[in-house]
Amino acid sequence: MMKRWQAVKRLLPLLAVFSLLLAGCGREDLSALRPQGPVAEGQYDLMKLSITIMIVVLIVVFAIAVYVLIKFRRKKGQTDVPEQVEGNFKLEIIWTVIPLILVFILAVPTVQKIFAFGDDHYNEKGSVQVKVTSHQYWWEFEYPQYGVKTAQELVFPTGKNIAFELKTADVLHSFWVPSLSGKMDTNPDGTINRFSFSTDKEGVYRGKCAELCGPSHGLMEFKVKAVNPDSFDKWVAAMKAPAVLPKDQALAETFKKSCLSCHAVGDQGGPVAPNLTGIGSRESVAGILLNEGQDGGKPVKENLKTWLEDPQAVKPGNKMPAPKDLGLTDEQIDGIADYLANYKLNY
Ligand code: CUA
Repeated sequence: MMKRWQAVKRLLPLLAVFSLLLAGCGREDLSALRPQGPVAEGQYDLMKLSITIMIVVLIVVFAIAVYVLIKFRRKKGQTDVPEQVEGNFKLEIIWTVIPLILVFILAVPTVQKIFAFGDDHYNEKGSVQVKVTSHQYWWEFEYPQYGVKTAQELVFPTGKNIAFELKTADVLHSFWVPSLSGKMDTNPDGTINRFSFSTDKEGVYRGKCAELCGPSHGLMEFKVKAVNPDSFDKWVAAMKAPAVLPKDQALAETFKKSCLSCHAVGDQGGPVAPNLTGIGSRESVAGILLNEGQDGGKPVKENLKTWLEDPQAVKPGNKMPAPKDLGLTDEQIDGIADYLANYKLNY
């Protein structure tokens, strides 16, 4: 017993350091237990309610069990069988009615919230519409009201209802930003799902694919970034500005020929692969390689080079061919990484 306590004592400072580390994160992690918007808060309230009920039931049941064990234990010298009681109408009513009341207390807010959070606000006035398309292994975000498309990083204004319409380009994925709301599937059968969330807190929230979809499922991350409405308008304007291409003419040609057949920047390029407009100011490269300014983050250019040198090493099974296989030289790859790293949006 003494030894165990010593071990616990030795672990305490470690625990303290861990809590400090966790509390120190300015960016919201994958946790539904630190809700940052009304939808997530409502869901967190349901968790708290059900856990509270369960704890109360647990305490009462254990207290009665312990009381009975002590009170009715065999006494010294007792040899006779105690009185055997069979059936007690009053008790049976009590232990049927109490659970029914508890289930009712749990059911009413749960059903209310499930329907409220499932409401379709897509065509409501004031909603910011976002069409989400999942791909193996990246996320496409289209803003039909603004004529803007982006990938991997969803930028949206605080204080507004963000109404999503979700579909997939290939297999089943699930859109999940734990600190803002629950999950929503993107169905391969062509059906479209809608839901919405909002937040008043500016910040970067981590999102994740929550449905096994292939070898890089665990790497199918994205970020959602809540900014104030002015910044959002600036972001939209910057997204709609004409494409910025590499200054070096030869490099610009290479970039157009090799990259813009699938990717897009500004008004140029294709819709097949992630839109790269302003990729230099995103939080991550490919959704998973964290950029500078975050825990363990690296300079954008370094991340871009890691990706461009071997996309399959970063996200196995993704559909991007290695630039080397397209005939690009190391120098050209470095030039493109440099150009993309400096392609930043002011907002
Ligand atoms: Cu997409 Cu898992």
